[in-house]
Amino acid sequence: MKQRIFSGIQPSGNLHIGNYLGAIKQWLPLQDEYDALFCVVDLHAITVPQDPIELHKKTLEIAKIYLAAGIDPEKCILFAQSHVKEHTELAWILNTIARLGDLDKMTQFKDKSAKGGAETSSVGLYTYPVLMAADILLYDTAVVPVGKDQAQHVELARTLAERFNKRFSETFVVPEVKLSKEGQIIMGLDDPSKKMSKSASSEYNYISLTDDAATVERKIKKAVTDSGSEIVYSDDKPALKNLINIYTLFSDKTQEEVVAMYQGKGYGDFKAGLTEVIVHFLSPFQERLASISDEEVEGVLRKGAEKARIIAKEKMRQVNERVGFLSE
Ligand code: AMP
Ligand code: TRP
Repeated sequence: MKQRIFSGIQPSGNLHIGNYLGAIKQWLPLQDEYDALFCVVDLHAITVPQDPIELHKKTLEIAKIYLAAGIDPEKCILFAQSHVKEHTELAWILNTIARLGDLDKMTQFKDKSAKGGAETSSVGLYTYPVLMAADILLYDTAVVPVGKDQAQHVELARTLAERFNKRFSETFVVPEVKLSKEGQIIMGLDDPSKKMSKSASSEYNYISLTDDAATVERKIKKAVTDSGSEIVYSDDKPALKNLINIYTLFSDKTQEEVVAMYQGKGYGDFKAGLTEVIVHFLSPFQERLASISDEEVEGVLRKGAEKARIIAKEKMRQVNERVGFLSE
């Protein structure tokens, strides 16, 4: 039997090439190796204020992005989190298992609440990692592929699974994290010391998956580079290293091959080549994206939720019984 894998992306902000290279692209081969569930985590998105019309649009867009990238609903379960009520049901129970001491350690909450002040942050933002644990544990997930920033949340899911199992008997699989490799973390084009982010204040930080060729060219031209003029791959040149990483991931060439191609050439030639490989990926991707209708993606999500619900309902029946609730 294949092991189960679960991952998700929030329908907020603009999905950028970092999300594609660091997450979605890594998921494509996993659809064959694992019994995979991929989720649009709309319940997580509303832990910070969202415009309802935008949220609706973004949820469809993210699902279309999954499909255009090659996530195949015949091979995996693709669904929207709010369609499967068991996520919130399990999150409540896990909220009674999680301790303030567990959540007080979560660095994402500290970072996010620091922006607007912890006083005015929602309680939902605070218990965000508990909902994420529910997503994972509901499906007996064995492996969770995420970026390093989410590792602490997966660790919490492990803690809650172990604590529940100990208190109520063996119920949940204790999940393992699967981190994206270092080269697959894409840094900001305007600041290579921070990761490319959909909430960045400048559009020159990222290349959105919906940017057209002219925009890609303009942004790559403006991307910061290091001193010197040679194309070398080195930790001393973090800006160039990041651009070479992007080049290799989109061209499936190695770093050595890319460096060799630009031997004796300068940043101008390299940036022109980089723009080309990005656009070479983005234009057919965007064509596929545009060809998927709202109705089509709604149908895919509805079917995905039906399949997810079967697994989730059975798990909740077990959980409710162990906790001591009367059967319905
Ligand atoms: P987020 O944009 O934080 O909701 O992340 C969605 C997914 O994309 C997660 O699996 C992240 O780890 C991944 N991701 C986000 N930003 C980057 C980045 N700059 N480089 C690589 N992966 C990223
Ligand atoms: N919190 C994750 C992020 O921001 C998204 C997410 C929600 C997730 N639930 C999940 C990822 C369950 C993996 C498994 O990237």
